[in-house]
Amino acid sequence: MTVKILAFAGSLRKDSYNKKLAKIIAKSAEKAGAEVTLVELNDYPMPLFNEDDESKDGIHPNALKFKQLMNESDGFLIASPEYNGAYSGVLKNIVDWASRQADGEGMLESFKGKYATLFATSPGAFGGLRGLNHLRILLSGIGTTVTADQVAIPKAQDAITDDGQLASEKRQASVDRITKNLVDTLAKLKA
Ligand code: FNR
Repeated sequence: MTVKILAFAGSLRKDSYNKKLAKIIAKSAEKAGAEVTLVELNDYPMPLFNEDDESKDGIHPNALKFKQLMNESDGFLIASPEYNGAYSGVLKNIVDWASRQADGEGMLESFKGKYATLFATSPGAFGGLRGLNHLRILLSGIGTTVTADQVAIPKAQDAITDDGQLASEKRQASVDRITKNLVDTLAKLKA
């Protein structure tokens, strides 16, 4: 049975390094045999979550579309920018919207039983590693198994080439190993 993975970055920035990284990891998971849907959060604009709006209009239509993609996926590959030692507000906002119960769904259906592997890159020396710790706690707390494997890539401006490749073959091999681990784990669970 085909493993389905949703890949995205937690940045809206046009030239985002994490968007480039999301493309790299999506391609890597495809090589490992998964069916990957790569999306940009810019294509799902939604307001900051406000429970008052939700009680009037229900879940925002773009949040519902994104939730649907999550529901159809077995796992997530996330490239997370680090803002002030944590993940971006954009990423938390989509998680908050997607955590809400849609008609006919169980609680936290978009997250429960799913697997995620986390990636980050930043121009800094730690590559966004501190943010991944927070993201791990967030997702684990709502039912997603976050794999022990993760990659944080420092000095993004040198690590990712202008045409969107990882400059280091060694690092690409490590990304490939990690995405393959996720795909293989999900394949076993689906067998
Ligand atoms: C940052 N940046 C940053 N970088 C880092 O390594 N650790 C950090 O804590 C922060 N904090 C931070 C806060 C805010 C508000 C901004 C705007 C930026 C720098 C950040 O990693 C850099 O702008 C990246 O390029 C953002 O990721 P994308 O958009 O390129 O994917």
